[in-house]
Amino acid sequence: MVQPFSILTSGQTAAVSLEAVRRAPINLNHWYVVAQSSELTDKPLGVVLWHQRIVLYREQARDASANQTVVHALEDRCPHRQVRLSHGQVQGNQLECVYHGWQFDPTGACVDVPYLSKKQKLPNCRLRTYPVKEQDGFIWLFPGEVDQADTVPLMGIPEWDHINYIASYTTIDTRSHFSFLIENLMDMYHGRLHDDLQAWANPVLREIETHPTRVDAHYDAESYYKIDKIYSVGQLFIPAMRQLRPTNLDVSYVYPHWQSVLGKDFKIYCLFCPVSETQTKAYLVHFVSLGAFHRLHKLPMRFRRFVKNSLFNAARGLLAGLVEQDVLMMEDEQQAFDSMPHRKGPEFNQTIIKVQQLIEYQVNQSQPYSLQSNMAIKSP
Ligand code: FES
Ligand SMILES: [Fe+2]
Repeated sequence: MVQPFSILTSGQTAAVSLEAVRRAPINLNHWYVVAQSSELTDKPLGVVLWHQRIVLYREQARDASANQTVVHALEDRCPHRQVRLSHGQVQGNQLECVYHGWQFDPTGACVDVPYLSKKQKLPNCRLRTYPVKEQDGFIWLFPGEVDQADTVPLMGIPEWDHINYIASYTTIDTRSHFSFLIENLMDMYHGRLHDDLQAWANPVLREIETHPTRVDAHYDAESYYKIDKIYSVGQLFIPAMRQLRPTNLDVSYVYPHWQSVLGKDFKIYCLFCPVSETQTKAYLVHFVSLGAFHRLHKLPMRFRRFVKNSLFNAARGLLAGLVEQDVLMMEDEQQAFDSMPHRKGPEFNQTIIKVQQLIEYQVNQSQPYSLQSNMAIKSP
């Protein structure tokens, strides 16, 4: 049954302004994904999240055997000459600007100017800092009101570290608004574009559930994805081996991210990092479960770890192929919108309408947050 979007329609009109959706800002009070863990090495990393330049850095571990280090996120702009701090380097738990060597601590305070004379004081400036967490293989950042960070749930992808799941991922970098990407992901009727790359067919919408932070669409579909024998993996690559069977297909917009479950064995996430009104970065993360192998738990943990690690990113090429086809469509949509923003096509897909309503609702929920820097410099 398709339910009305009651929460969104109370006190608002159900019809969204499509032009407003295509230009919608993000709700800053959510956790966004700004990097994959392996991208952040011992060097600082510059990222952009909704017009904000941010530098990430790992504290140098005092204990070399520590397998997790503390990550910090600061405004990527040196208060001295405004250059990017991501060009600099990490010194202990501080970040050093490459130009004149000023150093900043994790609170954003300037704690060292190498050429200061004894009569001069450190400048009174403080960089903006961001709540940041490293979890499930990715770096999650909260760009909104700092005191709200602990109250907003971080979606997470628990399969990343789960011994029974094999992960693959690829990046999406598209010159289009994030609404085009989430609509593409929630649109189950564009299988034609992907041909042999797509693992399911014939979706029939069973139910849509709506909530102030998510849209869940449930489909009955068919799929050849069932990994219960070693040779069944071959179906992913060899069309002649495929046999369609009925399966569930669930897709969810868990604002601002996306997740999908196909049958029991496959799960896909898309982790969003909107850059601007016309550029979106994201990570598409795909998991295959080995849970259907009944004797799995009898195998030694070391062997299971070896299998998980050896098969990591085995499906990356497949994902990249899908992404390339989708990006072409999304960028076409963006260009068509830019040239004629008033033109609007008919929409038969109820899920897409719910997604647009959720984007609009989240914009209205977002607190205006100054993009201005917090820094205030007083002459020493
Ligand atoms: S520009 Fe950063 S220290 Fe001078
Ligand atoms: Fe697609």
